[in-house]
Amino acid sequence: MISQNCLHDALSYGKCFTGLGRPADYIPELARVNKHQLGVCIVSLDGEILKEGAYDRPFTIQSISKLVSLILALHDRGGEYLFQDKVGVEPTGDPFNSIIKLETRTRPFNPFINAGAITVASCIEGKDTEERFGRFLTYIRHLCNNDEIYLNENVYLSEKSTGDRNRALAYYLKASGILEGDVEECLDFYFRMCSVDVTALDIANLSAVLANHGTNPFTGENLIEPSCAKALRALMLTCGMYDGSGRFAMKVGFPAKSGVGGGIAAVVVDRMGIGVYGPALDEKGNSIGGIKILEYLAKKLDCSLF
Ligand code: DON
Repeated sequence: MISQNCLHDALSYGKCFTGLGRPADYIPELARVNKHQLGVCIVSLDGEILKEGAYDRPFTIQSISKLVSLILALHDRGGEYLFQDKVGVEPTGDPFNSIIKLETRTRPFNPFINAGAITVASCIEGKDTEERFGRFLTYIRHLCNNDEIYLNENVYLSEKSTGDRNRALAYYLKASGILEGDVEECLDFYFRMCSVDVTALDIANLSAVLANHGTNPFTGENLIEPSCAKALRALMLTCGMYDGSGRFAMKVGFPAKSGVGGGIAAVVVDRMGIGVYGPALDEKGNSIGGIKILEYLAKKLDCSLF
């Protein structure tokens, strides 16, 4: 049992740190938020839902979408092909949008750095971007138990018009024979997936499915192959917080995936999914208040894997 008081204290603790970070501004639309917002939601596998603060405030999912796109690509292409020919499964120790290793290694190190996620996006099947994005939306709505998940048009257009770094990564990947299909179409799909609005409650639901080995804890519906859920949790632990993954494993100690919109999806296997939202980011692009909430909960609930 987790008490509401415990969650309240975790949020209060996290709030002490929001002043130390700042919202992402390389996507101009993301800079237009109150950086002190903070929310948390826990969905436990026995059906209990606890919420505090800005848990229902929408924010764009950003890199947390890389969990969903990876599941779709694994479904379409299989792990053998994807992890052999397209992306690796190793942490980089570099920032999420780094280009430095592409020339020496060709294949992106893992599916969560931008180069890896753009490659993964190019492996998702569909006759055009509409159909591919339609598949993504349908699936994420199931995973988050929410039929009201939509594209945030302003953030999408903001990133599409300024995303030249991702454009550089994608063209490089195409030239190396890694990225499949049309580069601009692939980028358009990737930007759309990153620009879907969600809440901390939504990502707590998604995390609960991963904590429950791929099965929706409320409906009993199997949404992710157990072996795929396991691969995702492993990648989240080693690569989910980018070049902050090692420190996060030490301080918190369970799988998590961040996004520059300020969200973090965190998984306590066999116990609960946690969603946090706080748009003030640290220098690695991870929510600063969100990490502090998770640190607090890991300690109080004694749920570090280590
Ligand atoms: O491609 C980008 O840069 C963003 N749409 C997503 C990056 C991101 O969320 C990294 N996470 N911390």
